[in-house]
Amino acid sequence: MSPAEPSSNTSGEAPRAILVAVAWPYANSPLHAGQIAGAYLPADIFARYQRMRGQRVLMVSGSDAHGTPVTIRAEQEGITPTEVLARFHASFLDTFARFGISFDLFTSTETPNHSAVAQDMFLKLHERGYLYEAEQELLFDPVVGRFLPDRYVEGTCPRCGDERARGDQCDNCQSTLDALELINPRSRLSDATPERRKSTHFFFKLSAFTDPLREWVDRQEHWRLNVRNFTLGWLREGLIDRAFTRDIAWGVPVPLEGYENKRIYVWFEAVMGYLSATKEWAASDANPDGDPESWRQWWQDPNARTVYFIGKDNIPFHTVIWPALLMGYGDLDLPYDVPANQYLTMSGMKASSSRNWALWMPDYLDRYDPDPLRYTLTATMPETSDSDFTWVEYVRRNNDELLARWGNLVNRVVTFARRNFEQRVPESPSTIALESQALLDRVDSAFATVGESLEQVNLRRALGDAMSVAQDANRYLDDRAPWTAIKTDRAHAAETLFVAINAISGIASMLQPFLPFTSAEAWRFVGNDGEIQAAGWRRSAVAAGTPLPEPRPLFRKLDESIVAEEEARIGQ
Ligand code: MF3
Ligand code: ZN
Repeated sequence: MSPAEPSSNTSGEAPRAILVAVAWPYANSPLHAGQIAGAYLPADIFARYQRMRGQRVLMVSGSDAHGTPVTIRAEQEGITPTEVLARFHASFLDTFARFGISFDLFTSTETPNHSAVAQDMFLKLHERGYLYEAEQELLFDPVVGRFLPDRYVEGTCPRCGDERARGDQCDNCQSTLDALELINPRSRLSDATPERRKSTHFFFKLSAFTDPLREWVDRQEHWRLNVRNFTLGWLREGLIDRAFTRDIAWGVPVPLEGYENKRIYVWFEAVMGYLSATKEWAASDANPDGDPESWRQWWQDPNARTVYFIGKDNIPFHTVIWPALLMGYGDLDLPYDVPANQYLTMSGMKASSSRNWALWMPDYLDRYDPDPLRYTLTATMPETSDSDFTWVEYVRRNNDELLARWGNLVNRVVTFARRNFEQRVPESPSTIALESQALLDRVDSAFATVGESLEQVNLRRALGDAMSVAQDANRYLDDRAPWTAIKTDRAHAAETLFVAINAISGIASMLQPFLPFTSAEAWRFVGNDGEIQAAGWRRSAVAAGTPLPEPRPLFRKLDESIVAEEEARIGQ
């Protein structure tokens, strides 16, 4: 998919450049529903909506190739990190294609372009005095004779006392940690108690950015409250300088002599991926401008917006560390919004790969359709607090909401119109009844209210509002009962169907960001031609006499028995 080049958006303003920047998943396991609900699905809904609005959208991310999650997996399997990356990168692309996550570019941090961009940032930060050399005490495993990356050390969290904190981060209280701070550290390589040894590294002067960051975050009144408060809390504690390089072999090389055996710390180069991916896209054949410099539209235009879709464990990297790097580098736009999501639990428990407690996307997609899960995850999206996925809820939402309220509406209207009006949209009188006009007005005005919620990334509310329009259409149909009217007052029935078909056309467009597969079908079943996305964020009017193609059911009714079946798979 490539960003359209509209001359104006649906408000008639010049199109705004919007970078939809999505967290880079570690290429060490397939994606699970928690990650999808946390970042990929909200990003996709937002991107699809902005494309329909006529904005110049670029949605990018890629595999986070260099983290210790990848090297740990490679060591466990006795293969190279490159092989691990290749396997899961392919799995991610397949999941995104089948689930309708519409990236303009999903690349990886293991590309020459990314290396070059990260090294350029390194050199500029160094030249500007934000990177300095210092000796650092590090944990060294005396048994295997290696310095230990943060994730190779486990111990007790100095902030909350949780005993399963890792050297980089505590999952329990979300503090980012330094491995040296851990109480009772253990090496994951040998179980030995690590020793402290000295090594020379580059440090990033994060401390220099405390005040500029605080002033900036203070002004971000449109941010989610929890994201803003969490960040301000971090800044209140004051920032300390952070090691920028590591004693490892897998990662982006440090572009200075004497550092051949060290690499840039994964978190610092991974966030630079947002910029490197934009540059990669601009230089690729996918860019309709053909101008490699057009990356600047998303990074150097004060009117552009970069919106970062991430899970809550990644907040400080996107609201503190990445903005500090951008400030230090200069001339690049800071994040416009970081609508981080909370966690999605699975039948009441946090997802865990080691216990296989997760809904794995490749498995899901082998058994079910994408839209019902997109719907369920959006309806329970963890926007303001953690939320829970259960199969009972999935079946209920599929059967009682998607199918009963939306799928059946489309089916019964189109089937009835085809049967009684020569497979065409019926004629309607020039003046229609009040309730008919009211329904069409309701659909039209919902584009504004649903759009407003989408702008603010209130996706649960946006979906709920769009679905309530479908409920109103059902009520309208029930009240006017065309199946009875057809026997006595054909014109009355014709008007009802004409109006219902036009309402469905609008509702389909409104649901398109959420349910891209079935909305496109519904939109065609009521007589539209072409691409639903290209028709824009508005109701496409369908004229009387338009041929109606034969519809097929949009959703399958799911048997209650799948609940027990699926629950038995979790944790096995
Ligand atoms: N790989 C990290 C994770 O899965 C996310 C990195 S987002 C980045 O938690 F942009 F910073 F790379
Ligand atoms: Zn903790």
